Amino acid sequence: MVATLGAMVEMTPEIHGLPMARSCPFHPPDALGPLREQAPLSRLIFPDGHRGWLVTSHALAREVLADNRFSNRNEYRRWPIERARVTSRHMPTLPGMFSRLDPPEYTRYRRLLAGQFTVRRMAMLEPRITEIANACLDEMMRVGPPSDFLSAFAVPIPSAMICELLGVPLEDREAFLQRSNVLVDMKTTTIDSARAWAYLYDYISKLIVAKRARPGDDLLSGLTESDLTDEELTGVGVTLLVAGLESTASMIALGLYALLEHPDQLAVLLGDMDGLDNAIEELVRHQTIFHMGPFRGALEDVVLAGQHISRGEVVLVSLPAANRDPERFDDPDRMDLRRKTTGHLGFGHGVHQCPGQHLARAELRIGYSVLFQRLPGLRVAAPRERIEMRHDMGVWGVKSLPVEWDV
Ligand code: HEM
Repeated sequence: MVATLGAMVEMTPEIHGLPMARSCPFHPPDALGPLREQAPLSRLIFPDGHRGWLVTSHALAREVLADNRFSNRNEYRRWPIERARVTSRHMPTLPGMFSRLDPPEYTRYRRLLAGQFTVRRMAMLEPRITEIANACLDEMMRVGPPSDFLSAFAVPIPSAMICELLGVPLEDREAFLQRSNVLVDMKTTTIDSARAWAYLYDYISKLIVAKRARPGDDLLSGLTESDLTDEELTGVGVTLLVAGLESTASMIALGLYALLEHPDQLAVLLGDMDGLDNAIEELVRHQTIFHMGPFRGALEDVVLAGQHISRGEVVLVSLPAANRDPERFDDPDRMDLRRKTTGHLGFGHGVHQCPGQHLARAELRIGYSVLFQRLPGLRVAAPRERIEMRHDMGVWGVKSLPVEWDV
């Protein structure tokens, strides 16, 4: 037994920093596949010297994410690369920022949210998504071609949907969106980002007071009926903004880029738009945008894949690597919009699995159907080497996506 464990320890790969170099924008960092072939769990030395772990297999990723001996609290967050740029970097953890809590404290929030992310609310939002997508296209077609698809289409849809969820009144939207767009703008300076955060936090806290006085039909108003305090509600509102905007914007833009660069697959989709739901699942799997996490910290000593994880050690679960695991998906590197994609981890797994996933799917589905109906001949307006990618950000994607079409 000792000899077996000894041999396993010897086989454990050790890497310094999360591998990030990609030879293709549509595939995970090159080093992850070979690491997973060696072992599902590698030693990961974080840039600050912390000796943690990296999970690369699908089965082990599910195991860690479903195990409540691993915590999602903020103190376990360590950037796995030097100089990571994250939009929430100036934000302290405040009451109500539930995603950084563990059960049972955390469970209270998720139950309340489940009562708000209802089928009825999603159905109510769908006509709004169609309206916004059409308005974005009207504007793109009025001004362009060319057009930056990220800022003209992919950002405005989730921004508007966050406003709908929070119930931001129409007259405040311009100011709200101006600040939230600062957070997803690659050119934003540290000081502008901090200012935008301060504005949004303050705005949401005032909005809650207004919702208590005069509730609407939005998610935030619904939550005012719970026992959450104003401070906690503000934290929930800010968490939804942080988690729902950049991720969805990035997925809409990267998904389109991937489709346009895989013309055979795009033809499959355009030939049968009934396959759009499945196509979206495959895009979310193949283009897994959460590429620097999730992180979890061991609350106690745990044995994982035969390795001893000590209490306090951080485990980084690589969702891009897990979603390309050949043990789980046949020919995983191939984008195949017709494959059965159930079980992918693009929206995470376990208690922290994305609560906004149905909304995100609706935004992708409606956004793409409106887009391909009105502009089926859309194409990328720059060679691949000129499309800048978000290597240093928590969410993978394009920094901008120039597109053009025939007029
Ligand atoms: C394509 C778009 C999206 C992707 C790929 C995505 C992906 C994810 C993933 C992987 C997680 C799990 C993180 C973890 O385990 O620590 C997560 C959590 C979360 N997502 Fe999403 N998400 C998307 C859209 C949205 C939207 C539209 C919302 C809300 C409006 C949202 C709200 C959240 C929240 C609040 C969490 C934290 C959950 C928790 O810790 O309990 N997401 N998302």
